[in-house]
Amino acid sequence: MPEAATPAPPTVRPAEGRLGVLCVGLGAVSTTLIAGVELIRRGLGEPVGSLTQLGTVRLGRRTDGRAPLIRDLVPLADLDDLVFGAWDVFPDDAYVAAAKAGVLEVERHLEPVADALRAVRPMPAAFDPDYVKRLDATHTKGAMPRRAMLEAIRDDIRAFREEHGCDRLVMIWCGSTEVYIDPGSAHADRAALDAAIDADDPAISPSMLYAYAALLEGVPYANGAPNLTVDAPALRDLASDAGVPICGKDFKTGQTMVKTALAPMFKARMLGMEGWYSTNILGNRDGEVLDDPESFRSKEHSKLGVLDTILQPELYPGLYGDIDHVVRINYYPPRGDNKEGWDNIDFFGWLGYPMQLKVNFLCRDSILAAPLALDLVLFLDLAQRAGMGGIQEWLSFYFKSPQTAPGLYPEHDLFIQLTKLKNTLRWLAGEEQITHLGVEYYGEDLAGDA
Ligand SMILES: NC(=O)c1ccc[n+]([C@@H]2O[C@H](COP(=O)([O-])OP(=O)(O)OC[C@H]3O[C@@H](n4cnc5c(N)ncnc54)[C@H](O)[C@@H]3O)[C@@H](O)[C@H]2O)c1
Repeated sequence: MPEAATPAPPTVRPAEGRLGVLCVGLGAVSTTLIAGVELIRRGLGEPVGSLTQLGTVRLGRRTDGRAPLIRDLVPLADLDDLVFGAWDVFPDDAYVAAAKAGVLEVERHLEPVADALRAVRPMPAAFDPDYVKRLDATHTKGAMPRRAMLEAIRDDIRAFREEHGCDRLVMIWCGSTEVYIDPGSAHADRAALDAAIDADDPAISPSMLYAYAALLEGVPYANGAPNLTVDAPALRDLASDAGVPICGKDFKTGQTMVKTALAPMFKARMLGMEGWYSTNILGNRDGEVLDDPESFRSKEHSKLGVLDTILQPELYPGLYGDIDHVVRINYYPPRGDNKEGWDNIDFFGWLGYPMQLKVNFLCRDSILAAPLALDLVLFLDLAQRAGMGGIQEWLSFYFKSPQTAPGLYPEHDLFIQLTKLKNTLRWLAGEEQITHLGVEYYGEDLAGDA
């Protein structure tokens, strides 16, 4: 069957007015995002790691020399127009929460923007201790029924929009990882979801209530953690029916970013693999929550999926049919937010001779995650203004476990994901796609008049 023709690009509404950024969770990632944006606005920092701020897109032929900044190619909200809000289960404002998270240096990076950080005071959280077990929550909406909780979040969204004069909003989950759940009958469609909420069914997690509230208020939703949340039919369908963009799951920042850059290399060279062992030590609050086996299960699921889809053992059984893939995370408080990851890859080459590759990644979790959160906020807002509702597969680049339409396998290869993202931007800007065929550069007859 021939591929359907590319649809005409949508008209993108301009990014006028204020964009409210609602962070669920005011922990390490959110506060690093907020402080970073405030510093960058004042010329006190550089947005390193952010594609929306630094990335370019090549347009036309390689000889044309056209490579505008992404933010000049498509209309993105200006950093000066962002206004931040949050919910958290602790009452600390963003200054105190950032100091406790210990990611940024207090004198150098929190003090210069202290006023802006202190102004971000979290709203009481919609919280259920059965979903996040290692936190002693003190700042919640209390044990109210799920329907009332949903309405309370909607009220918060409306009040924030009103108070800060926002023209548009985006919500991003930077909250703790909830325990693993499979999609079930309560998440099957809108009627089932509403019935489950009315029955106060424990199958409905707090993150689902935040996401449902966002979609009902027309607010795009990004899921930075591996929780199920919008990756089940009820909310997925609502997002596309209501024309509200969603994306997830689980920021691809550290070890999985490395994995999805290296695995395509082995496959590109048809090198075989016996095993891939990944382990991490992490000492921040996220690490503490992930020390709970049920939260870790959510994380493990999203981390394990990537190799199979990249290596395609069904196509290459002799190379990738029997891989031992192991992922471990150990909570180790002395490291704080500075995660250390080790990868050991047992692979083989010509005639089956074994080799090893070892990677030791000393990263800073939230320093890697904050620019991703910023990009997601700006791109979701762009998608909303372009009328692109539902799953934003072009944002797979940012996720360990990218959401896709039912029946489609996710694309995990970091470089294919980047190509997909940039092609979407070219399409939105009404520019030609780049195929990398390149015959047009060689020979008169092939080049024609192009
Ligand atoms: N930092 C990274 O590199 C990275 C990568 C991938 C995914 N993530 C995920 O992003 C999330 C945030 O990471 P972090 O390092 O900022 O964690 P964190 O523990 O510092 O912050 C999470 C915050 O969420 C709050 N919270 C928990 N449940 C909540 C609820 N129901 N409503 C409102 N607030 C709630 C917690 O009190 C905490 O302050 C985690 O789920 C983590 O797994 C982080």
